Amino acid sequence: MAYLEIRQTGPLSGTYRVQGSKNAVLPMLAATLLVPGKTTLHRVPKIKDVNVMLEILHLLGCCSCWEGEALTIDAGNVNNWVIPEELIGQMRSSVILLAPILYRMKKAAVVEPGGCSIGRRPIDIHLYVLQALGVKLHYEWEEHIFAQADYFCGAHLFLKFPSVGATEQAILAAVTANGMTVIDNAAREPEISELCRMLRGMGAKITGDQTGRIVIEGVKELFESTCEVGADRIVAATCLSAVAVCSGEITLTGVDASHLNGVIEPFEKMGCKIWSDKDTLTAARMDKLMAIPYLKTSPYPGFPTDVQSLIMAVMSFADGQSVVEEGIFEGRFRTAYQLQKMGAAIIIENNQAIIWGGHLIGTKVEAPDLRGGAALAIAGLGADGVTTIFGYDHIARGYEDLAGMLFMLGAQAALRE
Ligand code: UD1
Repeated sequence: MAYLEIRQTGPLSGTYRVQGSKNAVLPMLAATLLVPGKTTLHRVPKIKDVNVMLEILHLLGCCSCWEGEALTIDAGNVNNWVIPEELIGQMRSSVILLAPILYRMKKAAVVEPGGCSIGRRPIDIHLYVLQALGVKLHYEWEEHIFAQADYFCGAHLFLKFPSVGATEQAILAAVTANGMTVIDNAAREPEISELCRMLRGMGAKITGDQTGRIVIEGVKELFESTCEVGADRIVAATCLSAVAVCSGEITLTGVDASHLNGVIEPFEKMGCKIWSDKDTLTAARMDKLMAIPYLKTSPYPGFPTDVQSLIMAVMSFADGQSVVEEGIFEGRFRTAYQLQKMGAAIIIENNQAIIWGGHLIGTKVEAPDLRGGAALAIAGLGADGVTTIFGYDHIARGYEDLAGMLFMLGAQAALRE
């Protein structure tokens, strides 16, 4: 059973090229189904979630081929329309495949995903979007959903919450719909623009991504293309968290610093200095780490929920009391209980974590989820002695090599089998 071993580490230094974005590449892989031919994606991260998505694409009839970091999908022979229950259980975001499968097969079937470790994750907005675009839905045995549509019809959509996944679902359906679609209160996360950039390269007509109102004129067909996946802003934030805890100075390459707007400010408030230039970002912490009186996660361009556990780990070493409020997912504080095992002074009250910075001691902990696992590694860098992190499967979902990345930046981190 693989686990991470992290030792207390002094100032970091070094340069690291950030991996391609998990949350960008998954919808891009879903979009490859929209072309009955080949699509090549560059800078594809070699992570478990990509493997699960590939497994589903293979079951649907696609072929794939890796060449270094480039991945080519051939969706010429799609012949299945069911997303297997076991795979949707492993990766809930696979629900965005509904629209592309419907486009190719006129029908699709999926089991509604249940709750998961970071809270209830309903798909009602996905279903609203599909129905509004002309899809007929039938339920069998409560959570088995059968969807059917000969074609999509353009419509005016208003999302009750700017859900990232539901916005992607709407885009993936609307690009080939008859007529015009307007998505109001659309998510503005950079991953939405990444998907739109790829689809425009395939011939789609999309404007307004990043504005909250996306306008799409449906086209008859899309074409073979190649596209590069942007950097993973959450992996970049993981590196910022590491330097915040250890001090020192690190440089990240291949990143778009503008995607980190909501993240940079809180790290600066805590005492980090951050500079960016073209596609590099340098972060340093020389002085004392300071608490943040109040920070709330919110949709982009706000502070991302995916960085909440990471910053909570950093706050565990900061001088003073910090408060973090979770504004997106209920119950995403499971990492706090693991940090408590390391001696962190944290209490959870409803949707808030109150953290008094202090001294942590390395011990055995269990990754509760993907980002929580990375947060425990960050805490381990500042804790006395050795921290052993089990539940590596969660971490492998989104990091190509978390220990290797921290090691390259000067940290004492290793993956053990
Ligand atoms: C994506 C990211 C995830 C990130 C999240 C929020 C991927 C693969 N995952 O997840 O890492 O934490 O955005 O930035 O890109 N909701 C509903 N009904 C729906 C859909 C969502 O109520 O049909 C709610 C969710 O329960 C949650 C909120 O909306 O409370 C945000 O979810 P959403 O933006 O959809 O997140 P995901 O796309 O699942």
